[in-house]
Amino acid sequence: MQVAMIGAGYVGLVSAACFSEFGHTVICVDSDQTRVNALLEGQIPIFEPGLEELVVRNQERGSLSFTGDMPKAVQQADIVFIAVGTPSRRGDGHADLSFVFQAIQEVAAALQSDAIIVIKSTVPVGTVAKAEALAREVNGSIRIDVVSNPEFLREGSAVEDFMRPDRIVIGTNSEDAADVMRKLYRPHYLNETPMVVTNPESSELIKYAANAYLASRITFINEMADLCEQCGADVQTVAKGMGLDGRIGNKFLHAGPGYGGSCFPKDTRALVQTAKDYGVALNIVQAAVTVNEDRKLSMVEKIISSCGGDVRGKTIAILGVAFKPNTDDTRESPSLTIIQALQSKGAKIRVFDPKGRKMAEPEVGDAYWADDAYDAVTGADAVVIVTEWNEFRALDLVKLKALLKHPIMVDLRNIYQAEEMAASGFNYFSIGREPVYGASKQLLCA
Ligand code: UDX
Repeated sequence: MQVAMIGAGYVGLVSAACFSEFGHTVICVDSDQTRVNALLEGQIPIFEPGLEELVVRNQERGSLSFTGDMPKAVQQADIVFIAVGTPSRRGDGHADLSFVFQAIQEVAAALQSDAIIVIKSTVPVGTVAKAEALAREVNGSIRIDVVSNPEFLREGSAVEDFMRPDRIVIGTNSEDAADVMRKLYRPHYLNETPMVVTNPESSELIKYAANAYLASRITFINEMADLCEQCGADVQTVAKGMGLDGRIGNKFLHAGPGYGGSCFPKDTRALVQTAKDYGVALNIVQAAVTVNEDRKLSMVEKIISSCGGDVRGKTIAILGVAFKPNTDDTRESPSLTIIQALQSKGAKIRVFDPKGRKMAEPEVGDAYWADDAYDAVTGADAVVIVTEWNEFRALDLVKLKALLKHPIMVDLRNIYQAEEMAASGFNYFSIGREPVYGASKQLLCA
């Protein structure tokens, strides 16, 4: 099939590359000509494992191309995808739909024959209906069906998630459009991927409900971690014991510094606002939003107390600025909040992230950007692990201890074993587990 993808951002690019890999012919459109030119030369604007190979391979074999010429791209297409951003609107947390509606308007105006427009961007309930009305108003001479088809891609494993999804969700009131969508996803269908075909409203809400549920679940285990720290329980064991219950499952129960990224924070805020518009209070989701924001700052308190109650004039090494491993994305990353708060308390920061520097640097201000983890900890009073990159999981503890001024580690991702850290002579502070003191306890309070 011929697919036009409007938006060569994260979702658009991954979806375009994967559809072309499945044998469809995809033209990806972006209004940013510099981005288009870079893509035409095989330069990928984001770091996402496996994406570059897919883009280059499918460009070479002619099934994926990039253009700034939207009308030409959509006129050739059987299906037009909208994959533009829906950022949080300043002030109220609602999703800003201006890019979506602008794209719908332009695409509808450019279309010359009956068409299906699919909204992949995350949009609040009711958007597909509004978009369909708008498209038909702009171009009444043809039939335009607008379909909801949310994405569930996780950054860092987006290609794999696209190729082997848990489910595909399609929201439309048109049987014809549903049939075309089934054809498009035929390769998945052959893999027996479950397909939920429903009305646009349910489809739109599935996306938000899934993200809000996962965000609430993370917040739940994070609060349990706080309780564990006070009562002598171990959150890792608590999560394991909970997760073995088949009704609960073991995923998304890793306590940490709070969720970040381009989806959970924005989508939870938007869902609360949408519900308010319908006169419904989503108290659990609202609590997750508030608790998660507070959590980032409570991590700062944890670091300060681990360093003896004051960080003024001290040097803190931060490992990780990306909101999760295998991505260069630092949007709403807890690490940025932590760095900025530590700086405001008078700490000097040495920081390293394998991929996140470019996006984080403007936010981080006056910090030393290290070449690797060992460079970051050199001469630091303490090291804080904020992102669980693989290369931070097996650091040479002897070397680390020798390079640090004080053997203090704050591990906000629980990637080390407490006993191992104590045996290596570290004072080790983690999440939802008792601290261990491999060095002198007094050292901290000095
Ligand atoms: C998420 C959804 O998973 C995906 O389906 C959706 O379409 C987009 O949003 P993403 O934000 O890329 O994906 O990453 P995800 O792996 O879900 O992690 C989100 C945040 O939650 C990260 O900050 C991560 O560190 C945190 N997290 C995740 C935890 O703190 N604990 C966990 O157990 C899982």
